[in-house]
Amino acid sequence: MKIVKSVPAWLKLRRSAVFRGKTVGFVPTMGALHAGHLSLLKRAKRENALSVASIFVNPAQFNDPRDLARYPRTLAEDIKKLKSEKTDFLFLPAARGMYPDGYKYRVNETEESKFLCGAHRPGHFEGVLTVVMKLLNLVRADRAYFGEKDYQQFHLIKGMAGAFFIATKIVPCPTLREADGLAMSSRNLLLTPEERKLAPALHKALRPAGRPAEIKKHLAALGFRPEYIEERWGRRFAAAKLGKVRLIDNVKI
Ligand code: PAF
Repeated sequence: MKIVKSVPAWLKLRRSAVFRGKTVGFVPTMGALHAGHLSLLKRAKRENALSVASIFVNPAQFNDPRDLARYPRTLAEDIKKLKSEKTDFLFLPAARGMYPDGYKYRVNETEESKFLCGAHRPGHFEGVLTVVMKLLNLVRADRAYFGEKDYQQFHLIKGMAGAFFIATKIVPCPTLREADGLAMSSRNLLLTPEERKLAPALHKALRPAGRPAEIKKHLAALGFRPEYIEERWGRRFAAAKLGKVRLIDNVKI
């Protein structure tokens, strides 16, 4: 696996003969890789001649600086995992390289980024869309893969790609779950052992039919601090805090 740490080095490589005539599958991540990320990579490898992963903890999408400081960083293990999946390229840029303009230029969506997570994390989706636009322009992949756990993120990225005529196909991939139903997420690493035991209750509460207000009450009684339970796009969405960790999930209804 070739690791590229700067934007100019990446652009030079991307223009080289290595990529000529080859299809490219791209998995953008913020690291702390788990089996969910690796399932996206497996698919990228299956469907394309070359696979590219990126790891960049994007400061622009963290509305809370404490969340950015706490975000798990496990680079050495991530590299081992990517190598064991036989990933061809890892793009590992620094914040200064990704934001030469100091984040003056931004991608802003004005409707569907305003509810669900958008209502609780001001500026979050602006940060996500901006960095994904940059990454898609740099990697110029045929396909980019996103997990459905972050369904609103996937939906907005797909919408952005359509609106800006980006040639990369945005591919949704099913949420991977632990044996007890908890959706895999890098943030699960931050749960205390007691919180980890309680966390699958979020997914369990979403499954049966029930009014959002009742589900919220049930979760609060268990010790969660629910942010929203809402139905959109044929899915039921939930976000709730458990201690310092914010968990999200969604199921088809
Ligand atoms: O889902 C994530 O890990 C991030 O939001 C993404 C898409 C890599 C952008 O920073």
